[in-house]
Amino acid sequence: MMIRGATRSANIFVVMGSRLFSSATARAVSKEATVGILTGNKLGGSVQNSVFWIRAPMLGVRNLGTVAVGEKEQEVKEKEKVVSAAGDSENGKDEKRIVSYWGVETPKLSKEDGTEWKWHCFRPWETYQADLSIDLKKHHKPTTFLDRLAFWTVKSLRWPTDLFFQRRYGCRAMMLETVAAVPGMVGGMLLHCKSLRRFEHSGGWIKALLEEAENERMHLMTFMEVSKPRWYERALVMAVQGVFFNAYFLGYLISPKFAHRMVGYLEEEAIHSYTEFLKELDKGNIENVPAPAIAIDYWRLPPNSTLKDVVMVVRADEAHHRDVNHFASDIHYQGRELRQEPAPLGYH
Ligand SMILES: [Fe+2]
Ligand SMILES: [Fe+2]
Repeated sequence: MMIRGATRSANIFVVMGSRLFSSATARAVSKEATVGILTGNKLGGSVQNSVFWIRAPMLGVRNLGTVAVGEKEQEVKEKEKVVSAAGDSENGKDEKRIVSYWGVETPKLSKEDGTEWKWHCFRPWETYQADLSIDLKKHHKPTTFLDRLAFWTVKSLRWPTDLFFQRRYGCRAMMLETVAAVPGMVGGMLLHCKSLRRFEHSGGWIKALLEEAENERMHLMTFMEVSKPRWYERALVMAVQGVFFNAYFLGYLISPKFAHRMVGYLEEEAIHSYTEFLKELDKGNIENVPAPAIAIDYWRLPPNSTLKDVVMVVRADEAHHRDVNHFASDIHYQGRELRQEPAPLGYH
């Protein structure tokens, strides 16, 4: 019994090319067992010939050469509850789901109307109704040198952006969201490290900034549904991210009040861009297509919502980000640290 237990605990999954196992120290388990190991995502059927089940001793994989790893398929099935053939209705495909050995299983969720919740990237409790009553015209007048530097840095970035995208607002929105989602993650990460270094609480600011990053990424996931990036736009995103991530990282280390002020102004520009987007939709220059399903669920929009409704809630989000970042900068200007002021968590 003990030996069996020890052997079971040493079972490992290995995913690699079959060429590495040409010495026949391992063999692929049957098709039906193998498919189940990696299904639940796109790996499923396409890699079935590359998946191996190996029984190795506690000493590790290096000793495989001396270990007989061939097992009867039936024995594998009996010993491990790996495969569940339960269908997964997402995307309408009959995909198989993993029942994890580790007890990690995604719960089946339902929407309020009883239909299945189909998004894995966010859950019903993360959805919200945007506050459209927020003041879109609020502006922080730059007074100090750093404020002016932040303001004119953002203004100068607008010129090449206008030139590149012109009136292609869908594409512009998608591309700008790839940049907008960076500052929250960088700021949150740096505050996280600071909290660890100094053995002190963050006042909720780590979470608030990560929430902002996630919210911006959801904007991107939404606009991806209405505008597909071309190859050179993908290349541009990679280049811009490489530069912007590092520049913002350094900027935040040197002066968080400048970094937050700059994001505040970026958000003011985003509000302007989305207002222009709405004008183009109203004029009919951009087709007011039905809202993507992901947007309807994320912002709890009515089922018959359109792209215009989506742009309005995204613009409201940007106004909230503007407030949070100018607020954070103001805290620093008052000579305080962010942790000394409660963070605006869940501020939408
Ligand atoms: Fe955004
Ligand atoms: Fe934003």
